[in-house]
Amino acid sequence: MKVLVTGSSGLIGSETVQHFDALGHEIFGVDNNMRREFFGPAGDTLWNLERLKGSTKRFAHFALDIRDRAAIDELFRSHCFGLIVHCAAQPSHDKARDIPLLDFEVNALGTLNLLEAARQHCREAVFVFMSTNKVYGDAPNEIPMKELATRYDYARPEDYDGIDETCRIDRTLHSLFGASKAAADLVAQEYGRYFNMNVGVFRGGCLTGPSHSGVELHGFLSYLARVALSGGTYNVYGYKGKQVRDNIHGSDVVRAIEEFAANPRPGEVYNIGGGRQNSVSILEAIARIEALTQRKFEWRYVDEARKGDHICYISNLAKFKRHYPNWQITRGIDAILEEIVISQRSQPAHSTA
Ligand SMILES: NC(=O)c1ccc[n+]([C@@H]2O[C@H](COP(=O)([O-])OP(=O)(O)OC[C@H]3O[C@@H](n4cnc5c(N)ncnc54)[C@H](O)[C@@H]3O)[C@@H](O)[C@H]2O)c1
Repeated sequence: MKVLVTGSSGLIGSETVQHFDALGHEIFGVDNNMRREFFGPAGDTLWNLERLKGSTKRFAHFALDIRDRAAIDELFRSHCFGLIVHCAAQPSHDKARDIPLLDFEVNALGTLNLLEAARQHCREAVFVFMSTNKVYGDAPNEIPMKELATRYDYARPEDYDGIDETCRIDRTLHSLFGASKAAADLVAQEYGRYFNMNVGVFRGGCLTGPSHSGVELHGFLSYLARVALSGGTYNVYGYKGKQVRDNIHGSDVVRAIEEFAANPRPGEVYNIGGGRQNSVSILEAIARIEALTQRKFEWRYVDEARKGDHICYISNLAKFKRHYPNWQITRGIDAILEEIVISQRSQPAHSTA
C-alpha cells in the first residue's frame, strides 16, 4: 500500500513513517520543515528527516507545503494512496496569536486541501487527521477541581477517567490555534459523514517521544528534558505548576492509527492521550526528570497562566478502547521520560533560547 504522511519529519509523522515502513508499505512523506519557521533553529526537523532516510527502506520525502493546493493535487494525481496520515500543522497554542493567518492557512486550509485531494483521487483511502484537545477550548476547566499537594485533579468521582468526546467544542476560549484546529476537525468529520469517506479524527492530549524537536512553545516533556540537560531555566506559567497533562508516546498513537486504518469508521472522533495512568503535573514531571538525571535544574515561576491553558486534562480513552479492543497504552510515563532523556543525551546540544 502507498501511505502518505504529512508532517513526516515531526514527532508523530516520523513515528508513522517508521512504523508503516517496517510493515513493508511504500511511504511518501510531505514536510517542508516549517517547524523551523515557526520556532527558530531549535524547531528544525532536518535531523529527524536524516534519521528517517537512514533507517527506512521505502521512504520518499517531498518538501511540499500543504497550503500549496496545486502541488498537493499533483501528488495525489500521481499516486493512489491507501492511507493518509495527516500530521502537518502549526502545533502551538501560544504561537498562533502572533501568526493568525498563517496558523489558519496551515491548519484549516491545508487540511481541506488534503481532504479534497483525497476525495478527488482516492476516495476509498483511510484518512486520519491529528486533531487536538484544544478543540474543547477551556471548557474542561469548568469541571470542579480539587487541589492536591502536587497537582490539580477532578473533584467528582464521575470525572475520574477524564474528558470524553461529548465535551462541547463551542462557546469556550480556544486560542487561535484551537479555533483553526476545530475548523479542520469539523471539516474532516464532514468528509467522513457527508461524503462517507473513511476519515477518523484523533484529538490528541500531550503527544510525546524522543523524535520531538521540543521548544518552549510546543513539546512539553521534550523541552523540559532539554532544559534539564542543557542547564537552562524552565518557566512554569501559572496554576502553581500543578496543571496536569496526560502523555502518550508517539508509538502508541501510531498503533491507534493502525487499528483505525484496519477497521475505519467514517467520521468518528476519538480522544487519544496517555489517560490517567500517564498523567503528570508540571511539578511532578520536574521531580521525575530530576530523579532521572540525578541533578536539580533551574525553573522559575511566572505567576500568569497561559491564556486558555487546561488546569487538568486527562483523555478518556474508553471510546477508542471500545471500538478497538486490541489497542492499549504500552509505554508508561517513566519509560517515556527515560527514553527522551537517553535520546537527548545522544543528540548534539540544542539551544533552549
Ligand atoms: N505534540 C502534541 O502534544 C500534540 C497534541 C495534540 C495534537 N497534536 C497534533 O498532532 C499533529 C502532529 O503533531 P507533532 O507534535 O508531531 O508536531 P510537529 O511540529 O513535531 O510536526 C509537524 C510537522 O509538520 C511540518 N509542517 C508544518 N507546516 C507544514 C506545511 N505547511 N507543509 C508541510 N509540512 C508542514 C513541520 O515542519 C513539522 O515537521 C499536529 O496536527 C498537532 O496539532 C500534537
